[in-house]
Amino acid sequence: MIDLKSDTVTKPSKGMMEAIFNAEVGDDVYKEDPTVNELERRVAEMFGMDDALFFPTGSMANQAAIKMHTQPGEQLICDKYAHVYNYEGGGVSFNSGVSCKLLDGDRGMITAAQVEEAINPPDFYHSPLTTLVCVENTTNKGGGACYSMQTFKEIKAVCEKHGLGFHLDGARLWNAMVATNQNPKDY
Ligand SMILES: Cc1ncc(COP(=O)(O)O)c(C=O)c1O
Repeated sequence: MIDLKSDTVTKPSKGMMEAIFNAEVGDDVYKEDPTVNELERRVAEMFGMDDALFFPTGSMANQAAIKMHTQPGEQLICDKYAHVYNYEGGGVSFNSGVSCKLLDGDRGMITAAQVEEAINPPDFYHSPLTTLVCVENTTNKGGGACYSMQTFKEIKAVCEKHGLGFHLDGARLWNAMVATNQNPKDY
């Protein structure tokens, strides 16, 4: 039987287990894990970034990123299906103390126009200050839909115009890049 309830139920193949077993390891806190160092170097190079940071789970990466982008009391904008809103144990409110403004997107994907409309007026101190936009590629609850680079550019332009952070939950970014023939450097 092929269990399709989630892509997370797959188990490592024999080759993967062998690679794990034979991997060179070390203390990553001291940057002495050659395998992690090489992974970070390769991913940074692929995406044209100065550096990369390995996180053992997607939830950890999201939670750390949201914490870095926001201050308690602020608000982020995301689709109603967003993993950061529906899952991750409510970590967005617990770890970062922020609320989520939910958008009614298409299969988990939102548009620049929707984002712009959802930004709270920054001079109205009664409403939480909007500081971050979170998107997912591919979407989880949206059924694996993937964004076009054009939509990302449009959302990024709105973020820049309004001084908002822009976080990509790239849980299935490799799948999205293959499906849409995108280049990691575009990100
Ligand atoms: C869109 C999305 N973000 C984050 C996660 C969380 O990843 P992890 O299970 O590695 O914490 C998932 C997991 O499936 C996901 O689909």
